[in-house]
Amino acid sequence: MKKALIVYQSRKGKTRKYGEGMARFLTEKGYSVSVIPVTELKKDHLEQISYLFLGCWTSGLYFVLQHPDRKWVKAIKATDIPENIQIGLFTTYIIATGSMFKAMKKYIPGVKNKILPEWKSKNGLLSESDKESLNAFIQ
Ligand SMILES: Cc1cc2nc3c(=O)[nH]c(=O)nc-3n(C[C@H](O)[C@H](O)[C@H](O)COP(=O)(O)O)c2cc1C
Repeated sequence: MKKALIVYQSRKGKTRKYGEGMARFLTEKGYSVSVIPVTELKKDHLEQISYLFLGCWTSGLYFVLQHPDRKWVKAIKATDIPENIQIGLFTTYIIATGSMFKAMKKYIPGVKNKILPEWKSKNGLLSESDKESLNAFIQ
């Protein structure tokens, strides 16, 4: 069975909820899925993983300068992600994600110039179009 890991950083729970929605969808599609907070991420979690989803709430000045939370940055910088794992990014926000995804990529080794799939939500619910793009990503 193919495995996916969903790693999130959430203050109030919306980003966790969004990640859990992704997990439910992937489980329905036949994946074995784990969901963990970024602070618990260890190298062992990445063994045998085909897909890794990295999520963080959007921090910034609402219209500009969005970036991931400090705890997310610290944990991701410290993690070696095997090259064969396919990575997707997700966030939740209120007004604009702006530079969020670009800023997240800065801290993931080896992906700075790669195009990674992105999911974003204002309400933390997985939309139909989110499901379609997730489905396309895992084919
Ligand atoms: C300090 C702070 C900065 C924020 N900056 C932004 C921002 O730049 N753009 C935005 O759309 N939302 C911003 N938000 C809103 C959060 O991204 C949003 O509420 C998010 O869904 C919270 O996720 P969580 O429930 O997982 O903690 C900010 C919230 C806080 C507390």
